[in-house]
Amino acid sequence: MTTLLDVHEIETAYGLSRVLFGVSIAVNAGECVCLLGRNGVGKTTTMRSIMGLTPPQAGRVVWKGTDITGWPPYRVARAGLGFVPEDRRIFADLTVWENLDVASRSARQRSGHDFSIDRVFDLFPKLRELTGRNGGFLSGGEQQMLTIARTLMGNPELLLLDEPSEGLAPIVVDHLGEQIAWLKREGLTILLAEQNVEFSLALADRVYVLEKGALRFSGPSTALRDNEALRHELLAL
Ligand SMILES: Nc1ncnc2c1ncn2[C@@H]1O[C@H](COP(=O)(O)OP(=O)(O)O)[C@@H](O)[C@H]1O
Ligand SMILES: [Mg+2]
Repeated sequence: MTTLLDVHEIETAYGLSRVLFGVSIAVNAGECVCLLGRNGVGKTTTMRSIMGLTPPQAGRVVWKGTDITGWPPYRVARAGLGFVPEDRRIFADLTVWENLDVASRSARQRSGHDFSIDRVFDLFPKLRELTGRNGGFLSGGEQQMLTIARTLMGNPELLLLDEPSEGLAPIVVDHLGEQIAWLKREGLTILLAEQNVEFSLALADRVYVLEKGALRFSGPSTALRDNEALRHELLAL
């Protein structure tokens, strides 16, 4: 089993306010790993720390054996990490195709690779049907798909998804889960931050549970799936 991402004891703060207290997580090639926890526990901050958007003050982020702690975000992205932030940042005035084209141009500039919109349409056939529609006229679920598709244009090896299910209707969440499972079957490695326990446990091989910026639990997702008392204790559900 190859470890792609090894986050070791990171401590991250916003100004004087410390948010992460020695968080360690690992993601192996081909895995879907979920970072679970309620609102405000530090899931987004963990992802921002990994991506270099809010660099940790202590600890290390190691990617495929290289210490990337403190690298600027564009270098982290170029190294193969694709981040889908929680606020679906698509261009409302551009069509689906144009949104993907813009992403493809900047990805090409970054890496010299030529990524195909066709491949992304193969992964998200629904987007192909919507190719001429403006981003602003997409449903929440379609916007989430487009956000993920845009990140895939950068050809990442590890996809970091920050609360993709947030604000979506249950049936849309189910569909999104199928799409993410499909990406995993296609060989993508995934780190998923979520509050939605049912959604996460259906997808994840392993889970980490955060509470107040520190790890409360780590283990196979079956350990939580089969143990309601533990789920309740860790997540107060
Ligand atoms: N830009 C920021 N400046 C100051 N505090 C922040 C900022 N972003 C998040 N926080 C605080 O950091 C803590 C963790 O937030 P976050 O990582 O967004 O949690 P989660 O993603 O699990 O909801 C919260 O207490 C939040 O208020
Ligand atoms: Mg968050």
